[in-house]
Amino acid sequence: MSQRSAVVTGAASGIGRAVAIRLAEDGFDVVLGDIRRDPVTGGEPTEDIIQAAGRNAVHVDADVSSAADCERLVATAVERCGSLDVVVNNAVLAGDHSKPLLDTEPEDWDAMMAVNLRGPYLLCRDAVRRMLEQPLDGDVRGRIVNITSQHGMVGCPGHFAYSVGKGGLVQMTRQIAVDYGPRGILCNAVAPGKIVTGTAGDLSASEEGLAYVRSRTPFARLGRPEDVAAAVSYLAGPASYTSGINLMVDGGWTAY
Ligand SMILES: NC(=O)c1ccc[n+]([C@@H]2O[C@H](COP(=O)([O-])OP(=O)(O)OC[C@H]3O[C@@H](n4cnc5c(N)ncnc54)[C@H](O)[C@@H]3O)[C@@H](O)[C@H]2O)c1
Repeated sequence: MSQRSAVVTGAASGIGRAVAIRLAEDGFDVVLGDIRRDPVTGGEPTEDIIQAAGRNAVHVDADVSSAADCERLVATAVERCGSLDVVVNNAVLAGDHSKPLLDTEPEDWDAMMAVNLRGPYLLCRDAVRRMLEQPLDGDVRGRIVNITSQHGMVGCPGHFAYSVGKGGLVQMTRQIAVDYGPRGILCNAVAPGKIVTGTAGDLSASEEGLAYVRSRTPFARLGRPEDVAAAVSYLAGPASYTSGINLMVDGGWTAY
């Protein structure tokens, strides 16, 4: 029961998958929360890849908008390791519900907020509750990393609810850092810029989208899921006096 535990949501695909694999390599026992086991782009399930490498992970069918499912993610980590050390809120809904303001119906708004804001709120609440019951490990009781976006800092043309939700998640990160820092909780965010995942809504999938994201990214290439995983690994691991930040991993998108 001495291995450190991490919960990663949206761990079947894209960035969540890379984060889960990286945290397993870092020595965490990883609880993989997703509504699907198979990656959106196909390939081997994350759980199988981690286990085949001799590391520990378990997939849990979980919809982050469900309070019961979020509770189950935390309970699974605690059952397996005796503590909850790290939570990564990564799951996202975008796709067809993501539109400009005038096209956004209340159903679109509610669907986006259910996954992109209510989900992190529920899981952060369960996680902080549990972490506060744990003894200090050094001077930290637990770490939360929220996956935000460059579009939580600057507007995202045509994607109203997505961008507003990500802005909310940046502020949720600060709020938790402020309220629970005194009791040993570190809460940070990582904001990816354009990361090529090949999944639905991937702007780089069309010629026009690719030209746009290239024009906005000063660095010589677009991002990879592993770029984001490296930042999460830092915030989930040795960082012990960093809290409330939104770490841009955007190739310089927001630098100008
Ligand atoms: N890819 C990018 O360029 C980019 C840019 C900025 C921010 N981000 C952020 O990074 C994170 C990951 O993005 P991605 O591109 O890897 O996404 P993705 O679409 O590749 O994967 C998202 C995963 O979330 C899961 N998911 C969806 N709804 C869920 C729910 N209700 N409960 C649990 N799991 C659910 C999906 O099944 C999928 O496995 C998101 O928070 C996204 O906003 C991505």
